[in-house]
Amino acid sequence: MKIAIMGAMPEEIAPILKKLSQYKTIDYADNTYYEASYKGIDLVIAYSKIGKVFSTLTASTMIQHFGCEKLLFSGVAGGINPSLKIGDLIVATKLLQHDLDITAFGHPMGFVPGGSVFVQADKELIEIAKDVAKDLGKTVQEGVIATGDQFVHDAKIKENIVKHFNADALEMEGASVGVVCKSLDVPFFILRAISDTADTDASFSFDEFMESSAIISAEFIMKMLEKIEH
Ligand code: ADE
Repeated sequence: MKIAIMGAMPEEIAPILKKLSQYKTIDYADNTYYEASYKGIDLVIAYSKIGKVFSTLTASTMIQHFGCEKLLFSGVAGGINPSLKIGDLIVATKLLQHDLDITAFGHPMGFVPGGSVFVQADKELIEIAKDVAKDLGKTVQEGVIATGDQFVHDAKIKENIVKHFNADALEMEGASVGVVCKSLDVPFFILRAISDTADTDASFSFDEFMESSAIISAEFIMKMLEKIEH
C-alpha cells in the first residue's frame, strides 16, 4: 500500500525527507513529488503550496496519479482554543471550510448543495495517533479544524469561526484535502502543531515558530507510519 504524506510548505515536509536515506523526485502537474520506501512502507511525499486550490490538486494527484491509498497531512496551524499553546499538536476529528459562504441563499456557513459543512477524518488513523501519543507520553488534543484561503490574524475573525463552527484551530488546507479524500474513498488524517494564535501578532509568531512546530508534527507522523497496516 502506498501512503501519501502531504504538507503545504517546504518546511512541513523537509523533516520527513530528512529521515529518508534516499528518494526519487518526480515532477508532475507543476509540482514535485518524492517517492521513497521507509521501513518497508511505500511513500509519496509532497508539499502542495498554500491554500485550498493547491492542496486539492496535490491530494487528488497523490491518489489518482500516484495511487496512494491513505493520506496523512502534517503541518502547522493557528490555535483558537486557548488550551492550545505554541508547539502543541491537534488532530482533526472533523474539518470545515470557514470561508465557503452562500448564506445569501439561506444556506448555513460552510455549506454548498451536494456537500456537507463538516468532513470527518478517519477514525482508525486517529486511534493510531492516540496510540503513538501514549507511547511518547505526549498529549495530543483532538478537535475541529477550520480551513480557509486566509491567514487569520484578527481576534474578531477567530471569534466568528468559533461562533459558526466551534473550531479549535485554523489553517488553509485541511478541509479541502479531506473533501478530496472523502470523495475518492481514501482514509485521511490531518495533524497540525500550533505556530500562532491567529491574533494581531500571528505573522510574527508564525515566522518565529513555524519551522519548529512543523518538525514536531512531522516527527509524530513518522512515528505513526510504523503502526499503520501496509
Ligand atoms: N496556519 C498557521 N497559522 C495560521 C493562521 N493564523 N491562519 C491561517 N493558517 C494558518
